[in-house]
This record gives sequence, structure tokens and C-alpha cells, in this order.
Amino acid sequence: MTKRTHPTGAPWRNFYGRLKGKHLRDSQQAYLDEDLAALSPGAVDWEANPERTPLDLAALFGGKPLWLEVGFGGGEHLVHQASLHPEVGIIGCEPYINGVAMLLGKIRKAGVENLAVHPGDVRDLFDVLPEASVERAFLLYPDPWPKKRHHRRRFVTPDYLAPLARVMAPGALLRVATDIPDYVRQTLEEVPRAGFEWLAERPADWREPWNDWIPTRYEQKALREGRVPHYLTFRRV
Ligand SMILES: C[S@@+](CC[C@H](N)C(=O)[O-])C[C@H]1O[C@@H](n2cnc3c(N)ncnc32)[C@H](O)[C@@H]1O
Repeated sequence: MTKRTHPTGAPWRNFYGRLKGKHLRDSQQAYLDEDLAALSPGAVDWEANPERTPLDLAALFGGKPLWLEVGFGGGEHLVHQASLHPEVGIIGCEPYINGVAMLLGKIRKAGVENLAVHPGDVRDLFDVLPEASVERAFLLYPDPWPKKRHHRRRFVTPDYLAPLARVMAPGALLRVATDIPDYVRQTLEEVPRAGFEWLAERPADWREPWNDWIPTRYEQKALREGRVPHYLTFRRV
């Protein structure tokens, strides 16, 4: 049986989240129209790069170490890390266009220049990231998919973790934050299977946030609703 593909040749990948929410403000539409093209690596796009030639990272960030944030939501953590660490280049990806517009507003305000944005599915980015190119990755409050029959849509499954492991350098760090106990369980089971070791030595290592942390929008909501954040740090072996 031949695999289903898009007219562009891209493999068919189900995406279950939201792509667009409420109406964009005029200013947000302007950020998308004026800023997005210059910030997105064109080679991630299937139409522009059907051969899936790897991204030229030297051209993107001038040889700086590369970090990745998957599903940046409104982008507050991404801009925070970029401001704190001008010595690295960070690619953020997020398919929800309202979130992308929020990020672009924050980039203008903060004036950071070490960010790139893929406004889409991280799997399209994995296709074109060179092997062992990512020094640090953030997966912050990934969609919980609480119903058991939906657990296979979670990021912490081999479909996502195998390509993530491929693009991460030996010794690179992966930070996962979640407020869902069953997501913690699945993360601690699946991420080591994909070639990472969990670095916690004492409870404070997963109960307390990282030194350079700022709460994301989703974390603030979780705290308001009485859920407890977990901060899990893994190293690529
Ligand atoms: C629960 S939200 C958390 C957002 C943000 N990290 C925060 O903590 O506020 C999960 C985000 O992951 C994004 N997401 C889901 N699947 C994704 C994928 N395949 N590639 C990239 N982002 C994805 C969703 O669009 C959503 O914005």
C-alpha cells in the first residue's frame, strides 16, 4: 500500500491541535506579514525543499550552538531564553498561528536577534535538522491528551522521540515540564528508551524549576487550577 502524501510530497501527518484561534488583531497580522518570512528557515517547507536538504545552520546562526523549543505557545519562554543566552541560536516551532503572532510581538519588543521560527509541526523541522545538531531542547507543557485512547498522540512517543534523539548531540540536554502525573509516568518510561538518561538525583531536581526559568502561560494556568509542575531534565547518551 502506498503511503498517503500531500500534493507537495510531504508525508501525511495528522495534527490534532489548533492551528488558528480567535481573530488576530491588526498588529498581530502585521507582525506575521512583515516579520515571519525573514525569521523562518525556508528549507523546512516541503514545497521549497522537496528533497529535504538539511538546513544550513552556519548561515542561520553563524555557527552558534543550536537550541530548540517545541510548541512554544505564546513564546514567553523562548524570548526569555534568547535574551539570556545571546551566545546561542534558538529555533522555536509552533503550529498555532495566534501563538506565532504573539511571539513575533515579543521579539519586536525584546529586540532579540538569535531566534528563528518554524510556524508549523516540529516533525517537518526534524526532517531537515542535521544529525546531532541540537545542544538543548525544551518541551514545555506538551498537550496532555488525558484520555487513554489519545495517549499515542502525545509527544513522548517513539514517532516524535526517535527523530528528536537523532537531531540531538551526545550530551545535549532535554528539558520537559508537565503538570500531568500520567504524562510524567509516560515521559520517564519513553524518553530513556529513546536514548536519554534522567538526571534527577533528589526530589528537588524535579520539584523546583530550572535556575533560568520563567513560568509559561500554560504553567500559570496549571498553578491557578491547583496542578503541580514537574521539571524533568534528561541528557542524550
Ligand atoms: C499545552 S500547549 C503549551 C504551550 C507552551 N509551551 C506553554 O507552556 O504555555 C502545547 C503546545 O504544543 C503545540 N504543539 C502540538 N503539537 C505540536 C507539534 N507537532 N509541533 C510543534 N508544536 C506542537 C500546540 O500547538 C500548543 O501550543
